Amino acid sequence: MASFMEQIRGGRAKFNPERVILTAGATAANELLTFILADPGDALLIPTPYYPGFDRDVRWRTGVKIVPIKCDSSNKFEITPEALEAAYNEVESMNIKVRVALITNPSNPLGSAFSCTEFVSIFEVLEARGYKDAERVHVVYSLSKDLGLPGFRVGTIYSYNDEVVTTARRMSSFTLISSQTQQLLASMLSDKEFTQNYIKINRERLRKRYEIVIDGLKKAGIKCLKGNVGLFCWMNLSPLLEKPTKEHELNLWKSILHEVKLNISPGSSCHCSEPGWFRVCFANSEQKLHSEE
Ligand SMILES: Cc1ncc(COP(=O)(O)O)c(C=O)c1O
Repeated sequence: MASFMEQIRGGRAKFNPERVILTAGATAANELLTFILADPGDALLIPTPYYPGFDRDVRWRTGVKIVPIKCDSSNKFEITPEALEAAYNEVESMNIKVRVALITNPSNPLGSAFSCTEFVSIFEVLEARGYKDAERVHVVYSLSKDLGLPGFRVGTIYSYNDEVVTTARRMSSFTLISSQTQQLLASMLSDKEFTQNYIKINRERLRKRYEIVIDGLKKAGIKCLKGNVGLFCWMNLSPLLEKPTKEHELNLWKSILHEVKLNISPGSSCHCSEPGWFRVCFANSEQKLHSEE
């Protein structure tokens, strides 16, 4: 797994197998990390828009409180120091502690980088900083998006913190991957020729599909956030809303679902601060994408 994580980042970062903890997907990894890092009632900062599953995965059983870092289109949904400070001040006013800031990519944190020249992973940033403060960084990675294998239930926690590694390894008994899956995975990932081919073809296909969708939307006058990673594009349908409200966004979502038979995620389900944004998945057959045009 460690050498595969290295391979998928084009060898630009090194991974120590001792620091990899296997979990049954990123869902379990996110919860496990939250259990380790935070106490019930602590605050976890997450930039919006975020993966809707976080409300369940990191909150329900751990008892932490999610406090959003509100990002908006004026900054291409990137975190600004002001937004971070506002979230921090909100936590202070509630008299609770910030334990974790979960940093994710708005289009999708787990996806394969199909445009590698533009994508810089946190691992490369840490290396460039000489691993300063690295013990405070914990990375969740999953094959669900990179290899398109969500049913395999294979995820990892990679931490530079020895205590987190030890605790996560002990607690991972609650979220193990079956030995059969591990064996199949090990034989698959150790075949370098196969993985190289898989990564190459997967990236080419994703880039092509991304371009088809972006071009089609552009022709229809619909703007999207520029992406270079993942399986989703974040598009702005706000000009189509009767009024800029969550209700009108959900009405538009329902008509696209029932009339066009296309399920795209409304921004409000990702806590987006502006109505009218939608997450559309382009990892589909080319034929299907053209037929939606
Ligand atoms: C941030 C995030 N966490 C977890 C998941 C679920 O991943 P897994 O199938 O590895 O549990 C997703 C999938 O969309 C995601 O985007």
